[in-house]
Amino acid sequence: MIATTRTAGAGQGTDLAWEVRHYLTQRPRQLPSRGLYDTLGSALFDAICELPWYPLTRAERRLIDVQRDEILREAGSPARIIELGPGNGSKLDLLLGTSEHARSVRRIELIDVSPSALGDASRRITEERSVTVVTHQARYEDGLAIAARSPLAGERTLVLFLGSNIGNFDGPAAAAFLETIHRSTGAGDSLLLGVDLVKAERELLLAYDDPLGVTAAFNKNLLVHLNRELGASFALDAFEHRAVWNLGEARVEMHLVSRRAQHVDVAQAGLAFELGAGETIWTESSYKYRGADVDRMLTAAGFDAHAHWVDSEGQFLLALAMRR
Ligand code: TRP
Repeated sequence: MIATTRTAGAGQGTDLAWEVRHYLTQRPRQLPSRGLYDTLGSALFDAICELPWYPLTRAERRLIDVQRDEILREAGSPARIIELGPGNGSKLDLLLGTSEHARSVRRIELIDVSPSALGDASRRITEERSVTVVTHQARYEDGLAIAARSPLAGERTLVLFLGSNIGNFDGPAAAAFLETIHRSTGAGDSLLLGVDLVKAERELLLAYDDPLGVTAAFNKNLLVHLNRELGASFALDAFEHRAVWNLGEARVEMHLVSRRAQHVDVAQAGLAFELGAGETIWTESSYKYRGADVDRMLTAAGFDAHAHWVDSEGQFLLALAMRR
């Protein structure tokens, strides 16, 4: 069974226009990363996950596949699973395994800004299972607020925040977001967090700037999306994708660099500006962690770090934390 909730205001043009205006007028100029995930963007991200140079998804999937039973047991055999940003649902599918593995799970709530991702994920999850899947097309915070009022909210819940999506927040925003998860859950609920670990610069840069140019296309598609949805006039042929490893901040920064000067209009955001030759728009960051950073972050937000699983190459960490 599948039910859908569309959270008011989320994903609507006006909202996006406000955010785009806010970010583009910062220095350096930025864009909101949720604009990356329209239908084409979600498909390009699925392709990124298949790239030989992007090992995160494979490492995380292997961990989930091997540790499935232990994860579900340590999480106290949850009645409800909430996933933040499920993408195509393949990781949740792995975690649930056959109906034998996840017998306790009666309700699944998926929160994502992308309707195509929600459709793919709920189809995949319900294909061979009889479980109720509810989708919330909303930003994480709004979806969590609704999930906190839904049936089974009082029963044991496992929240999934995978794919190192926490790494797309800076330090203070990550801390605030973990506190939001804490507020939306109850004592005894748990959180499974997937984080990418610090590794060699060469490997990090290949993961975010691949030789096939899929990541470049994914990043540039943000401009295609804004040209279409907000009547913007970004000259697509003038932009170049750039990934930079910022060691001091332990993050990969993604930029779109304008090779030449151009005038940009964003009609529906009431914004017009000149972009200089070589000027960059910062679209996303991906923070990388050490195990101890993760525990510190979880503890500060009111969770007890409970179990850690790291893949054999030391690439990726799954942390299960119990809510105090
Ligand atoms: N959550 C993904 C990550 O941090 C997002 C991502 C992967 C991404 N590749 C990207 C975002 C390229 C912008 C550009 O790994």
